[in-house]
Amino acid sequence: MNQTLRVIQWTTGNVARKTLRSVLARRDLELVGCYAWSADKVGQDAATLCRLDEPCGVLATNDVEALLAVAPDCIVYTPLHPDVDELERLLRAGVNVVTTAEFLTGHSLGQAARTRLDAAAVAGGASLFGSGMNPGFAQLLGAVATGLCSEVRKITMHESVDVSSFASDSNMDGMGWGRPMGDPGHADDVRAASVVFADGVHMLATTLGIELDEVASHVGFSAATKDLDLPGRPIAAGTMAGLDLRYVGIVDGKEVLDLHQRWVMSHQLEPPMPADHGYKIEVDGSPQVTLTLGLMPDQPLETLTVEDMHGIGMTITGMPVVNAIHGVVAARPGIVTYADLPIPTGPFLG
Ligand SMILES: NC(=O)c1ccc[n+]([C@@H]2O[C@H](COP(=O)([O-])OP(=O)(O)OC[C@H]3O[C@@H](n4cnc5c(N)ncnc54)[C@H](OP(=O)(O)O)[C@@H]3O)[C@@H](O)[C@H]2O)c1
Repeated sequence: MNQTLRVIQWTTGNVARKTLRSVLARRDLELVGCYAWSADKVGQDAATLCRLDEPCGVLATNDVEALLAVAPDCIVYTPLHPDVDELERLLRAGVNVVTTAEFLTGHSLGQAARTRLDAAAVAGGASLFGSGMNPGFAQLLGAVATGLCSEVRKITMHESVDVSSFASDSNMDGMGWGRPMGDPGHADDVRAASVVFADGVHMLATTLGIELDEVASHVGFSAATKDLDLPGRPIAAGTMAGLDLRYVGIVDGKEVLDLHQRWVMSHQLEPPMPADHGYKIEVDGSPQVTLTLGLMPDQPLETLTVEDMHGIGMTITGMPVVNAIHGVVAARPGIVTYADLPIPTGPFLG
């Protein structure tokens, strides 16, 4: 932590607005570059792109060679989707990568891509680490909760969120909100868009030292009981507006790890799908452990906007990777998970 690490921010979307602010605010990290995926962002100040009032003097570019020539210690990689070729190039060039972009262990990308990324990282002497809130940090919390137990039988983690304030986000596209109930192929499309949660199961298993026989997934839908006029994503009555999604790790025919996500665009759903808004972790063991995560804004509630609420979600997605940078830079080369890192902590900015 005594060393100041040189960081590049890769894209400037929702999560990046929080990761870039954090990099700029920290004394132990220095922003030395910014990659733009959108052509119209090239040449613009990174801080301005992240809606900060003051420019930071780092201009966004799509010149990857020029960014690598800056010899960064780490890239904060937050595009909408990961690009395996691009990641391979960055790792082979010796740059550590922390990412929120649909990557934790690489299982969900397929064995060939996973092997390529691990080999590139080893060849470059770099580490690749993925997290986020869920999947990601939530599984770390689950693993830590088991540290109280003399025996663990099952861990269940519930994420329950009214996602209507995220309705227009691109990463919501794959869930098929507003599709007719019973639409053929809908559940498989959801599986394809959410498969990174399987990585969450694998990561938790690795951290706990469990060998899984299988990871299964279960998808359930509810319909809106009235038209939902959501910005960027109107949903008609009778179409899909509630999603119940489980990724389950199985050993000897028993479900031992259960990542349960419930996302709703409305509270008027049929069949009913109550959502509590938050995270709850249950360890079935000795003793039984329940961990409830409470998240509140650090500003007066009367000044809170929908964008502020959305920002909390992006903060808890982005900070697990920014706060891991020092540990990832020091970690062994290859794909690494929380099992390879020191306890992640947030900064006292003083
Ligand atoms: N695990 C978690 O808890 C969690 C939670 C939320 C999000 N995430 C993940 O974090 C990542 C970033 O999310 P976000 O909400 O910040 O995304 P976003 O704002 O929609 O997109 C991020 C950036 O990706 C670039 N981009 C846009 N379309 C793209 C495409 N088709 N292919 C590749 N890049 C594209 C753009 O870069 P420019 O800015 O350069 O134009 C955009 O600003 C996503 O992979 C998301 O799934 C994880």
